[in-house]
Amino acid sequence: MIQIGIIGCGTIGSVLAKTIQTKFSRFARLSYVSDINPAQIEKLRKKLKSVPFRSVSTPELIKKSGFVIETASVKAAEEVIPKVLRQGKDVLILSVGGILKVKNLDRLLAKSSGHIYVPSGGIAGVDAVLAARMGQIKRVQITTRKPLRSLENAPFFLESGLRPEQIKKPTLIFQGNAAEAIDNFPENVNVAVTLSLAGVGARKTRVRVFTSPTYRHNMHEIQIEGSFGRMISQVMNLPSRENPKTSALAIASAIAILEKIFKRIKIGT
Ligand SMILES: NC(=O)c1ccc[n+]([C@@H]2O[C@H](COP(=O)([O-])OP(=O)(O)OC[C@H]3O[C@@H](n4cnc5c(N)ncnc54)[C@H](O)[C@@H]3O)[C@@H](O)[C@H]2O)c1
Repeated sequence: MIQIGIIGCGTIGSVLAKTIQTKFSRFARLSYVSDINPAQIEKLRKKLKSVPFRSVSTPELIKKSGFVIETASVKAAEEVIPKVLRQGKDVLILSVGGILKVKNLDRLLAKSSGHIYVPSGGIAGVDAVLAARMGQIKRVQITTRKPLRSLENAPFFLESGLRPEQIKKPTLIFQGNAAEAIDNFPENVNVAVTLSLAGVGARKTRVRVFTSPTYRHNMHEIQIEGSFGRMISQVMNLPSRENPKTSALAIASAIAILEKIFKRIKIGT
């Protein structure tokens, strides 16, 4: 039985905690949680009355768990990944931007017996990009469209001088690579980093962000060209009820990757 520890008991962490109990109880149990906000842990305790998980510090959680799930923030992921890998453990990372920030990641991975799992999130086509990389990839671009209210607190608005209230209609507010995109929108474009890790890397993955107060969905369109041909994918995501920045499909994708880890049949690239 795998002892799971979840870092970050918000929207995704809570759903995964519940799913471990309802769907994966033959393989794993939720044993430890950590969160910088104790109220979030209390909320989870009320939702999962029958699960006797313990609330511990993040370092203790990493030490005691057999499998770590990070559902907290890019900063948390950056700090957690080296600790988990040094202890030879596996980690599922949702705040994928944190992977780019880890110093000497290749060396850490080479020395560790642990693994980093990255779900596809709210995009379609990661399987095709992984396969396309076996040949040559010429160009990868992701265009993200998100409702203004889900971007309002992004560092982008502090640094660009543009104010959210000035945006009245669909507007292209950002163009750059995936590394620049995650610095500007750390809570919104983790999928751009996922795409970059699957394909040509963060510096070569082109990212465009559109926003509008009129948008109701989190939309992601991917275009990729390579020696295999061309692929275009488009997903119109419903935002999750608890956190409009997080797409319902991203949560489902995290559950699906756990299923892939636990089950004996593994579908998809
Ligand atoms: N990979 C993807 O496709 C994808 C999709 C959506 C969200 N995300 C990312 O996943 C993460 C979780 O998303 P969410 O919707 O559950 O967010 P949320 O805001 O609902 O929950 C985050 C929780 O983590 C806690 N937290 C923050 N920093 C922490 C730290 N250093 N240590 C411990 N706990 C901490 C918060 O108190 C909160 O309870 C975010 O970083 C988000 O950007 C990734």
